[in-house]
Amino acid sequence: MIRLHNVSKTYFKSPVKAVDDLSLEVKPGEIFGFLGPNGAGKSTTIKIITGILTPDSGTVEINGVNLADDPIAAKSLVGYVPDNHEMYDALKGIEYLQFVGTMYGVRAADLKRKIDEYAALFELTDAIPDMIGSYSHGMKQKLSVIAALVHDPKVWILDEPLTGLDPQSAYQLKTLMRKQAEAGNTVFFSSHVIDVVEKVCDRIGIINHGKLVAVDTLDNIRADGKVSLESLFLTITSKNERQDAPDDASDDGEGK
Ligand SMILES: Nc1ncnc2c1ncn2[C@@H]1O[C@H](COP(=O)(O)OP(=O)(O)OP(=O)(O)O)[C@@H](O)[C@H]1O
Ligand SMILES: [Mg+2]
Repeated sequence: MIRLHNVSKTYFKSPVKAVDDLSLEVKPGEIFGFLGPNGAGKSTTIKIITGILTPDSGTVEINGVNLADDPIAAKSLVGYVPDNHEMYDALKGIEYLQFVGTMYGVRAADLKRKIDEYAALFELTDAIPDMIGSYSHGMKQKLSVIAALVHDPKVWILDEPLTGLDPQSAYQLKTLMRKQAEAGNTVFFSSHVIDVVEKVCDRIGIINHGKLVAVDTLDNIRADGKVSLESLFLTITSKNERQDAPDDASDDGEGK
């Protein structure tokens, strides 16, 4: 479970709030898709949930643990796939996974089993003995996904995880997200790819200028019948900015 309560964050010397009084609860067993235009505040929110950034105000709870009160306990429940895959290029893939697993206190036998299983799933078995510096972007991303799973996190947070993955890996990742949710864990991911969000998520939130402007289940959006997620997104994120919202923003949802 992730609970954000009145969370705000302004970057140093910035005139605007990157995250503005955001409250949200994501339940166990749920896949939550976080949508928003570039610069809306998605990554900032995610960095606040993972404890990388401290909010100026508001609270974050992970499975009932207050992140500010007990950061180690809260962080140990989280697996995080960042949007940039800056890694230790001078380590081998296997060394990185062993390092991360050990940091989270995973027992050696369990760690080996997990690494073997996930490396095979993402067709990385032959590459993990190699230096990370020799990996392609997609391979680094897959390593990052595996590293975020080796300790069986209760809350899995992914920032634009599908960018750069080939269709097979993207499929495996989407399947893993569903498996995590079915196991009673919480999955929270940001994406620009509306089709993916529509296929994978149980509930979505739309953020714009740091404010959470919509939260709903995909079932409700579909039940409406008239509005596709794409048109909803375009309409909501165009408000207050452009009077000339795209014509198809309100009437292209029939076929979806
Ligand atoms: N390190 C930083 N220092 C100053 N301002 C920042 C920093 N990181 C982000 N911002 C600003 O905070 C706001 C939110 O950025 P954020 O990265 O959270 O957006 P995002 O929704 O993840 O965008 P994208 O879709 O491009 O990844 C933007 O106005 C951005 O310019
Ligand atoms: Mg981002």
